[in-house]
Amino acid sequence: MKKNIIFLGAPGAGKGTFAALLVEKKALLHISTGDIFRREIKNGTELGKKAKNYVESGGLVPDEIVADMVAKRLSEPDCKEGFILDGFPRTLNQAELLKKTGVRIDAVISFDANDDLLIKRLTARIMCRQCNENYNKLFSPPAKEGICDKCGGELYQRKDDSLETANSRLALYHKETAPLIDFYKKGKILFSLNSAREKGEVMKDLLKLIE
Ligand code: AP5
Repeated sequence: MKKNIIFLGAPGAGKGTFAALLVEKKALLHISTGDIFRREIKNGTELGKKAKNYVESGGLVPDEIVADMVAKRLSEPDCKEGFILDGFPRTLNQAELLKKTGVRIDAVISFDANDDLLIKRLTARIMCRQCNENYNKLFSPPAKEGICDKCGGELYQRKDDSLETANSRLALYHKETAPLIDFYKKGKILFSLNSAREKGEVMKDLLKLIE
């Protein structure tokens, strides 16, 4: 089984959703740079203060800050059994910085979906403030509006999921992150996954790809 995996894909492509599902089935660690930044911002840490404006406006946190943070995280002992790196690298420079750490990457899964669907998903996404569970007003609504099924926490919309910011995040993805597809194709570790389908079908193919 492939153990050290990168999830690559546009905002809304399903990286976080399928990382959570995969973690339930396989003993892998989910490392989401977006989740780490949101937690640091919520806790008002130095890192959170540095990242806040970039994250909330849909920009990219400077490469060195993210790469240092990820290198530290990947050197921790709990990463030895395998990890899913969700949201990193996001620029060619970040990919080069990751390479320099010497951490082995077994597979890069490229989540593919069209921009219209991505915008629909992003602008309808809602999250739990307490446990971070992910819902969608169109595709997977909670049983009770505004309340998390799992923990009863309050559901909210991420600031960067407004229509305007979601559009600019997508444009940034095409400019800065999509070139990584060719980068990893050359390394022969890229696997494409059509994520514009029903979750069960996507999951079935994802499991096949990592075996
Ligand atoms: P991050 O949180 O990583 O945002 P993102 O990459 O834009 O990804 P998303 O979380 O929006 O999308 P996703 O693919 O996880 O989609 P999801 O599974 O939730 O980063 C946030 C910010 O942090 C960045 O903008 C940047 O500022 C900063 N940052 C992070 N990493 C950085 C880096 N490396 N460098 C610099 N800055 C960095 O799915 C979306 C919705 O669709 C959900 O509601 C879900 O339920 C639904 N859905 C998904 N798949 C399906 C399906 N098959 N069927 C039905 N519904 C589905």
